[in-house]
Amino acid sequence: MKLLLCPICKSELTQCGNSLRCEKSHCFDLAREGYVNLLTGSKSGELIGDNADMARCRKNFLDKGYFQPLAERICEIINESNSRTVVDICCGEGYYTEYIKVNTGADIYGFDISKQMVRLAAKRRCGANFFVANMADIPLADSAADCAVHLFAPFCENEFARIIKSGGLLISVAPGRHHLHKLKEKLYDTPYENDEAPPELKGFTLIRTENVKAEIHLNSSEDIDALFRMTPYYYHTSQADKEKLTGLDSLDTQTDFFIRIYLKDIPQGLSYETYKTRN
Ligand SMILES: C[S@@+](CC[C@H](N)C(=O)[O-])C[C@H]1O[C@@H](n2cnc3c(N)ncnc32)[C@H](O)[C@@H]1O
Ligand SMILES: [Zn+2]
Repeated sequence: MKLLLCPICKSELTQCGNSLRCEKSHCFDLAREGYVNLLTGSKSGELIGDNADMARCRKNFLDKGYFQPLAERICEIINESNSRTVVDICCGEGYYTEYIKVNTGADIYGFDISKQMVRLAAKRRCGANFFVANMADIPLADSAADCAVHLFAPFCENEFARIIKSGGLLISVAPGRHHLHKLKEKLYDTPYENDEAPPELKGFTLIRTENVKAEIHLNSSEDIDALFRMTPYYYHTSQADKEKLTGLDSLDTQTDFFIRIYLKDIPQGLSYETYKTRN
């Protein structure tokens, strides 16, 4: 965990036994599962972010491999860029973090504001460094990362720019235009398509966008329910519409992931192909 900073005084943290300490003697214990809680103030991550139920649901669904094509493509991009230190921003329960660790061998740091999510992530024991933190104040050194991945999560571009080295990558993923459209057709009379406009991020240049698409077949009501609960639609759908999924025990739908690759501090006009040849 050598790149972590004390969230109170911002000096380096070093491991002493089962805790991390800074030069001013601020001390943070490693939890039994191996993660460290670096969220200060409020309820220290206990009640913030996704709860234990949402975390378990997400883990059960993702571990079945339905979104594996996305995880594979992310690893290819990381390997093509020769990134050795990777940060998984808002890592959730660690499915992608583990996949990246296993398939790239990079040093990987994953954090999330939800302690429940990070606890499940750390239980994977995959060799990644997990910590609880807020992306608005990431306890990592400046330019710590060769690459950061940011999947289905909110933005905080100033902090992302601070922790990524000059010339490093930000791989950001959002639902593509047709993501889970058949699920939405079951729920809504007029399902909408997702907006794919990539946000402009100060300090970064967008060098490539691409979609990863696949057909998935869900063959149980549990998987359909878990998928629905993982989406933002779950929180914006009326009870009457939610009930349209009752009794549904199979569903064929498309996954469509929109990947945006940004480079930090690189002038406009550099293509992804040129970038790859420089690495
Ligand atoms: C939709 S989930 C995505 C999780 C993971 N990236 C994945 O794709 O499985 C969004 C995650 O962002 C986390 N999150 C939301 N606001 C955050 C913040 N301010 N700092 C850190 N994590 C945050 C939530 O706790 C949740 O785990
Ligand atoms: Zn300190």
